[in-house]
Amino acid sequence: MINLDKSDLVGKGLHRECYRHPENENLCIKVVVFGNADETRREKKYYRQIEKRNISWDMIPLFHGDIETNLGIGSVFDLILDHNGAVSKTLEYYLSSNKETEAHYDGLSSALYLLKDYLFQQQIITMALKPKNISCKKMHSGSFRLFVVDNIGNSDFIPICNYSSYFAKKKIFRKWKHFENSMLNTYKHNEALYRMLKNT
Ligand SMILES: Nc1ncnc2c1ncn2[C@@H]1O[C@H](COP(=O)(O)OP(=O)(O)OP(=O)(O)O)[C@@H](O)[C@H]1O
Ligand SMILES: [Mg+2]
Repeated sequence: MINLDKSDLVGKGLHRECYRHPENENLCIKVVVFGNADETRREKKYYRQIEKRNISWDMIPLFHGDIETNLGIGSVFDLILDHNGAVSKTLEYYLSSNKETEAHYDGLSSALYLLKDYLFQQQIITMALKPKNISCKKMHSGSFRLFVVDNIGNSDFIPICNYSSYFAKKKIFRKWKHFENSMLNTYKHNEALYRMLKNT
């Protein structure tokens, strides 16, 4: 059994806490701390589907199975790290400050474009895309690679998008539009973000 300590906490959402794996610095362990495990179950089911499709894992952390911890069952994923070993910051972090967005304008705009392209190419369906669920891996060159660390998958009762690439692409397009609009709405005063989205 793995012992998770508060000092290893990497991030916290509404339902889960994400800890650095105490025995492997490249992994994290997520435990449900509020509500039930429905979301985690849905996520695991989707992971199983895309594993079968042999997708590229360039922008989604690999899932390494479940593990027993002192805080209950944990799910093990790749931990997204910057080139210097620091845990990557979220897109929310970079967009919450106009100064940060401006300072990383080129890196973030190309990375956003590449993420959109990746989701289309690999036909990855997401629930609502949110900046707090996107980790921005900072590379040595100052460029970024974005990872969707939460909320992938499909909650449709009849998930036709999992079988039809036509419907999948339509859905991914809608989700991306919604993502852009919600960012513009949340970060109304971020002029750099406005320019960025106009140009991608
Ligand atoms: N693989 C990862 N690598 C680096 N950081 C991560 C990773 N997964 C999660 N995090 C960080 O931990 C936070 C919480 O994790 P996660 O989003 O999975 O929790 P959640 O409770 O499901 O979130 P939500 O409130 O969106 O439902 C994220 O916002 C992010 O900052
Ligand atoms: Mg989250």
